[in-house]
Amino acid sequence: MKNLDQDIKSVVVSKERIEEICQTLGERITKDYRDKDLICIGLLKGCSFFMTDLLKYVDTHLEIEYMDVSSYHGSTESTGEVKINLDLSRSIEGKDLLIVEDIVETGTTLNSIIDLLTYRKAKSIEIVTLLDKPNRRKIPMTPKYIGETIPDEFVVGYGLDYNENYRNMDYIGLLKEEVYKKS
Ligand code: HPA
Ligand code: MG
Repeated sequence: MKNLDQDIKSVVVSKERIEEICQTLGERITKDYRDKDLICIGLLKGCSFFMTDLLKYVDTHLEIEYMDVSSYHGSTESTGEVKINLDLSRSIEGKDLLIVEDIVETGTTLNSIIDLLTYRKAKSIEIVTLLDKPNRRKIPMTPKYIGETIPDEFVVGYGLDYNENYRNMDYIGLLKEEVYKKS
């Protein structure tokens, strides 16, 4: 048993299943974007593990960009105002964009990002997410590519954190209650 495994109550998405998801979604994206001008935009930090594994299965020309966007917490959360901590390094005008997410929940931050990229004249915008929690949605949206739909429970691993920890696990799981009590 690995060290971090000791904090995990149960596995939600196994290492093997993640690999299978990356392959399946990667092949779909390859087909859909063969004749397009694709830029994949990873949303940091959660996207990092999924993005690299997924894109190894995408066999067509593409560019990689990253954004780091956070929602303002507190009173403005529902308005979907966002703070851009890291922006794109190039113009995306006329490009086919694929936003790469670890998890989609309320959809508020993602909605603001889509508005911004639309304003910057993207040709098309789709979302690929490893996990979807549709029960948490505040703004209606259905990502085109979804790895796994999960119940409304807090998960960690494979890019997803609890207090910036556990991102480096190679699977996704639920934390034991005692981990929350310790912090
Ligand atoms: N785990 C970790 N980070 C998250 C989650 C989650 O379930 N949902 C949104 N950010
Ligand atoms: Mg987080």
